[in-house]
Amino acid sequence: MPNILIVDDEPEIAETLMDYLTSCGHSVSTCANAQDGLAALNNKDIQLVLSDIRMPRMSGVDFFKEYKTTKKSNARFVLMTGHTDLMNVQNAYSLGVDELMTKPFDLDILKLVVDYLLETEEAFGSADENYYSIPISDFVFSNYNEFSLFLKINHKYMCVTKTGQEFTTQRLQNLVAKGIKYIYLASADYAKYADLQFVTADCTKLRPVDHAKKIKAYTAMVTNISQNPVFNSVNKQSLNHCLNSVNNFSQAIFNHGKLSELFISYLNGSPHLVQKNYLIAAISSCIAEQWKWNSPRIQSRIVLGGLLCDLGLKDSKQLINKKRIQYTPEDLKEYENHPQQSFKILSAIRQIPDEVLQIALQHHENVNGQGFPNKLPRTKIHSFSKLIQGVNEFVEVLLMQTDQTDAKQALLQIFSFQRKLISEQVLKSLYILFNQPVPKELEGLLLPDQTNRVL
Ligand SMILES: [Fe+2]
Repeated sequence: MPNILIVDDEPEIAETLMDYLTSCGHSVSTCANAQDGLAALNNKDIQLVLSDIRMPRMSGVDFFKEYKTTKKSNARFVLMTGHTDLMNVQNAYSLGVDELMTKPFDLDILKLVVDYLLETEEAFGSADENYYSIPISDFVFSNYNEFSLFLKINHKYMCVTKTGQEFTTQRLQNLVAKGIKYIYLASADYAKYADLQFVTADCTKLRPVDHAKKIKAYTAMVTNISQNPVFNSVNKQSLNHCLNSVNNFSQAIFNHGKLSELFISYLNGSPHLVQKNYLIAAISSCIAEQWKWNSPRIQSRIVLGGLLCDLGLKDSKQLINKKRIQYTPEDLKEYENHPQQSFKILSAIRQIPDEVLQIALQHHENVNGQGFPNKLPRTKIHSFSKLIQGVNEFVEVLLMQTDQTDAKQALLQIFSFQRKLISEQVLKSLYILFNQPVPKELEGLLLPDQTNRVL
């Protein structure tokens, strides 16, 4: 039996939507007018109606009103319009429709909205607001009873232990033996676990279409980076560990009303720049792990700093599309101001950790004292900022190459020409991370886990 009904007087549109939704596994039927639509709704199995607004005889709005008064089924209702002036989202909501979509719309977004309204599980497969994954290995050696722990089974979260209950190492080890790799924490517990209060500070309820856009942006970003061949030479286990924390902290950004709005506008304006930030966050997280900076508290600051440090460039679209050598003096001035802009934007978000603000402000200050915006001397730069600055330089060189995945070539370039501009510990760690022989000059250099300092 069909579960989706499309009502549109333009057969090409109805057919395109039907073909697409059928290919997504839905059972779909179409009607060319609202009267036939009302008759079709006698079929109680219809769960979702997608109706055009502008149709002859009876409009989509009247169709919805008629449907509501006769209440033939409990179907969810989406109105589609090519004319935003006919109805705005607010009016559609006050009428009681579930969503208003403006044509032309992206079919991927339509799928996500449909999945969301039909509550099919795939819609919640990623960027889930409520749960965060933690590698089970992080729990095995500690007796946690501070948090409720969940397992994810068939897209559902099952509580295996409540706060205060003892969850023995033996039980965790049994789960590991069964092949379970991740344990899940609900967002309030996750906020405590990573010491990130902003995670629960602003959970704005999103419209289905905004929720869909969020999932699309998040999924594209995460998939893109985890499949980047630059990581081919990196140890898989530590890479997966880092990507998990990067995914969690980017999820935290997407789950926060204001931050998500800022980040999505940054992402839509300059997707390649966001990919750069994602690369910086992932590589910095791997190096932090190499230095035994493993705690969720530190990892969260490093990853969020890497992801958000360039937010100040969000509105500089002209600048972003220019090559650095084409910059006019005004462009350069604007560019060199972006750390302050990022700092300003992030400072307005309640409970953003102070270290993240420091990274935003200092991520172009270099160990030579010649960075921007403040030419800070080496001793005044936060350790986390030194890490992000070094990785940022490396990623910029990497992305300027013809082969943007050749880490070896980028390291050679940095070592020959920019060695004095980045922390040598970061440079040495990059060689180790990408499995390249460490140059003789850096061999004897102690890393922060051996000296307790970032130089
Ligand atoms: Fe930057």
